Amino acid sequence: MTFTLRPMTEADWSDWLAVDEEAFGSTIPPHRAELFKGNTEFERSLGAYDGDQLVGVTAVCSFTMTVPGGPIPVGGVTAVGVLPSHRRRGVLSALMTRQLTDLHERGEAVAALYASEAVIYGRFGYGRAADSMIFDIPRHGGALAPHAPADPSLRLRIVKPAEARGIFEKVFDAVLGSRPGLYARTPARWDAALSDQDADQGGAGPLRAVVVEDGDGPRGYALFRIKASWNDQGLPDGELRLRELFGLDPAAYALLWRHVLDRDLVSRIKSWNRPADDPLIHLLADPRRLNAIWVDDLWVRVVDVDRALTARRYSAPVDVVIEVDDPVCPWNARRWRLSADTSGARCVPVDDPADLVLPVSALGAAYLGGRTLTPLLEAGVVREARAGAVRELSTALSWEPAPWAGLMF
Ligand SMILES: CC(C)(COP(=O)(O)OP(=O)(O)OC[C@H]1O[C@@H](n2cnc3c(N)ncnc32)[C@H](O)[C@@H]1OP(=O)(O)O)[C@@H](O)C(=O)NCCC(=O)NCCS
Repeated sequence: MTFTLRPMTEADWSDWLAVDEEAFGSTIPPHRAELFKGNTEFERSLGAYDGDQLVGVTAVCSFTMTVPGGPIPVGGVTAVGVLPSHRRRGVLSALMTRQLTDLHERGEAVAALYASEAVIYGRFGYGRAADSMIFDIPRHGGALAPHAPADPSLRLRIVKPAEARGIFEKVFDAVLGSRPGLYARTPARWDAALSDQDADQGGAGPLRAVVVEDGDGPRGYALFRIKASWNDQGLPDGELRLRELFGLDPAAYALLWRHVLDRDLVSRIKSWNRPADDPLIHLLADPRRLNAIWVDDLWVRVVDVDRALTARRYSAPVDVVIEVDDPVCPWNARRWRLSADTSGARCVPVDDPADLVLPVSALGAAYLGGRTLTPLLEAGVVREARAGAVRELSTALSWEPAPWAGLMF
């Protein structure tokens, strides 16, 4: 099959939507299509054409993302879809290869994405870099432990989300640098996050919000919906669906959870997107009541080994020669010496013997600091040529807190 690749323009918008709708087997409501468009940088999109017909799409969002040590530009890959009539003929492979070349030429050293299925992106050099948790907590198991921080100067205020956006933005901007994976939100991204039409509600009513504040201003917020219901015995059986919860300090964080876990007429609290190291695990009086399912969050692609590895900070000094296997981006496929300490890093091409050999996806997996390399060694993904080299690199790359992007894109 032959097809051509080119960026799409506004004139291609309805075809683009049609490809994504068909690929995902879903319908995008008009207001969500507008929000999607508001977050689209057409010049960073890519369409695959079979003759005149658009058959495959993808796009990149220009993110500023926190990585260990600070913010860097990251290409946020999104809207990937191939028409079912044209699948498994190499359309995605062509789009991904061209997109990575574009990122390389643009000088964006790192790309990240959310995957609809975990089997798709490893072959293009993406590694599972962050995890998130789906929480399901019965309200009767939601009591906090006696040690949970409390601050009597804090108070809660119920707010209307549409009116409190400035507060959310202020709190979010203050936490943004604290966790690898979080990315700065543009106004259009906030528009989408706070969209609250019927089609956004999933039968669970309007978006609700509570803000925690002290005399100096907001210290955190929680966004959620409540699906009210009663069971056959006439007992309240509501479900609180938590969307976001950010606190600027432990007491604010605990107070928000106290509120969310103890709303009247609610029997369970669900959240589809919490960080893997959520402090809630240590705040609950009975942590076994927290039912958690572990899922993948961000997948990361190191587009340029040297630029990516020098753009982040390290937790410990390291000096290793890494042989990188990267058939999709041949400019990475060679041996590199990474010399880093806690103040900075150098990464240069060398011909010295390798201390360890890894696929570029393993570097992507470890890039945000949340994935240790020893399990990848034991799983046969990474190979060690000098004893101890894997642990040295893994220790240097590791970071706290665990990476997490917070909002799907
Ligand atoms: C996922 C999707 C984009 C793949 O597009 P495609 O053009 O069929 O992919 P390609 O033909 O380039 O496939 C490349 C390789 O990946 C494999 N692959 C692609 N998608 C796969 C999937 N969903 N499951 C398993 N393997 C998959 C192919 O079998 C092929 O393997 P091979 O190189 O060993 O032959 C397409 O199936 C799709 O649009 N799916 C629905 C929407 C979606 O999930 N999008 C991704 C959003 S993150």
